[in-house]
Order: sequence, then structure tokens, then C-alpha cells
Amino acid sequence: MTVTFAEKLARMPGYQAGVPTGQAPEAIDAGDIAQLASNESPFPPHPAVIEAIRRAAPAMHRYPDPDATLLRRRLTERYETQPGRVAVGNGSCEILLAAAEALCEPGSEILYAWPSFSMYPYLPALTGAREIRVPLAAGDVHDLEAMAAETTAATQLLIVCNPNNPTATHIAAAEIAAFLERIPPHVTVILDEAYIEFQTNDDPDTTLDLLPDFPNLVVLRTFSKCYGLAGLRVGYAIGSSTFRAAVDAVRQPFSVNAIAQAAGAEAILHSDDALFRVESTVAERLRVEEALAELGLQTSESQANFSWIDLGDADEGEIVAGLGERQVAVRPGTPLGDPGHIRVTYGSGEENDRFLTGLSELLD
Ligand SMILES: Cc1ncc(COP(=O)(O)O)c(C=O)c1O
Repeated sequence: MTVTFAEKLARMPGYQAGVPTGQAPEAIDAGDIAQLASNESPFPPHPAVIEAIRRAAPAMHRYPDPDATLLRRRLTERYETQPGRVAVGNGSCEILLAAAEALCEPGSEILYAWPSFSMYPYLPALTGAREIRVPLAAGDVHDLEAMAAETTAATQLLIVCNPNNPTATHIAAAEIAAFLERIPPHVTVILDEAYIEFQTNDDPDTTLDLLPDFPNLVVLRTFSKCYGLAGLRVGYAIGSSTFRAAVDAVRQPFSVNAIAQAAGAEAILHSDDALFRVESTVAERLRVEEALAELGLQTSESQANFSWIDLGDADEGEIVAGLGERQVAVRPGTPLGDPGHIRVTYGSGEENDRFLTGLSELLD
């Protein structure tokens, strides 16, 4: 007899890292590689956050606060909600996985757009729920009409990624509100807003105002992007107190480590500064998108910190490899669901120049 694993293992999609594993973050920061493959912030954490991490370090012989009390209180204050409605996780990915585990089983349906965030296919694979992928509409935007039409009595979880990864497109909050009106109350709707701070259509907090009207709505956010804390793994969700309790029930008690809690609790006090950094990313977005248009390339309308580029006749594999040879890491479109594309994070001005120079050489 040999060891056998659960059937679901064969269903797991697997995750491809943005840079080769074993690559130390310090080497990336030393500027050897322009790391434009993971939609991270080019900016290090706020100095007060680094100080909070230093202050937390001597107590590392203790387990973290299982309730993340300070972090959840600060999030509550920032968003004017109640602590019982705030879930925190080891990255917002953990909250997605926990939500699926708490809500779904064989016979349930999980509905999301495609192409969208590469973690979503994990959720049906893990829970045995049926996945319903709704193709994006023209312009690479969510087809909310079709998503509403695909909702059934079996739908347990519906995810709207806004702005959408990998296409960077955004749907205005008013349209989201109209969509929510059409979704039956038994469906938990997760609005995955990992990149919401980068869009310029609405005030980033607009969708939070929808929570009182829609008890089935969960707004999911992260410290990984505009706060520059991807390495610490901390995300949060604001929804109903029953959602928070369900998520907490299915995962390990100490999932958000003490340093991440301290850093998140400090970072949320500096959201104005985070938005100031976002402005410089938005300025880079305009510059890069203009340069891409000059190269004759089409991109989706980006409202995020990355570009989704249609390579036209150019070969995706050759472009990704050629950029790699120039020490520029980008994401190929094929594993993200749309061959003939690349997804490129807006990095520092110098990194973006390196990318644009490399790309124009390769297209010549
Ligand atoms: C759309 C989307 N949601 C969630 C996440 C997960 O973020 P984290 O687990 O780092 O909070 C990402 C990360 O890239 C993402 O692109």
C-alpha cells in the first residue's frame, strides 16, 4: 500500500510565483530585478509602520492576540463600523479560502468572472462546489448582467473582483449597488477590493456605504498593495457579524501573526500617506499607458496598479522571456486565462523605463 492523497488534490490549480522561488526580496530591492509580476507596491512600508514592527519584535516568544483586538479596533475606527463585523486574515487570500470553506460544499455553486484573480479556482477545488465562470464582457470588464443571470438557488458565493485582476478594469459603485439589488439574499457576495485605492472613479470608501443595505455583502481589502505590506500577509473583510464568526470558526486561531497585527494597526492610521503614494502610481500609470499606446499596443482601461496588455501579433512567451533576460519580471497572460497578453505592475519610474525600453526592443 502506498500513501494516497485526497481526490481534491488533483483538482488544485497550483500557483506560479511572480519571480523564481529562492529569490530574496533584498536582491529584488537592490534593483537587480524589476519585479513587475506581483502587483506589489514599489514603496517600502511607512516609517511609523517599520517602527511598530520593531516595537513588536521583542514579544515574539508569545502567541499573537487571537482576536487581533487592536488591529480590528483601528479598522473599526477607520471605517466607522463595529468590531464584530471586521474579519482579519493571513492576507485577504486566507479570508477567501475561509469564506469558501465556511459557505460551500458539494452541491453549492461558486460564481466569478473569468479571467479574474488566480486564487478563485482554488475555492471550488477545495470545497467540491461547482464553479461557474462568467466570461468578461467587451473591454475586459465584469459582465454583471450575465453574472446575475447565472445566479441560482445553489449559488453560495459570488465574487466580484473590482478592480479586476488581471484586467485592471473597474466598475463604478453605483453599478455595483444596482447589481446587488438583483442578487438574492442567500448569496454571499464578496467584493474583492484589493486594488480599490488605485481607481479614480469613486471615493474608495463608497462601497462600504452599501453594507447596511445588503447584509449578504462582504467588502474584502488588503494591506498588501497600497500599504506596501505584502510580505507580512494581512488582509481584512467587513461584512456581517455572522460572516466574521463563520470565517473565524474554520481557520486556525493564530493566523495573523503578531508583527502583522502591529503593522496593520499602525498602517491604517496612515491611510492618507498611502493614498499620497497611490497618486504617484496613478501618475506612472498615465505615463506607461501612453508609452504603450505609442508602441501600438492595446491595453484595458487600467484603474489599478498594473496594466493588462494585448500583445497583438507578438509572441507572449518570447516577450516574457526577453523581458526576463533584461531582468524585468512580468506575468504571462496564458496562466491568467487569456493568451497573447501580459500583466505588468507599475513599479518605480526607473523600473517602468526598463520595462518600456525592453519591450520596445523586443517589438522592433
Ligand atoms: C484581486 C486580489 N485579491 C486578493 C489578493 C490577495 O492579497 P493578499 O492575500 O496579499 O491580501 C490579490 C493579490 O494579488 C489580488 O490580486
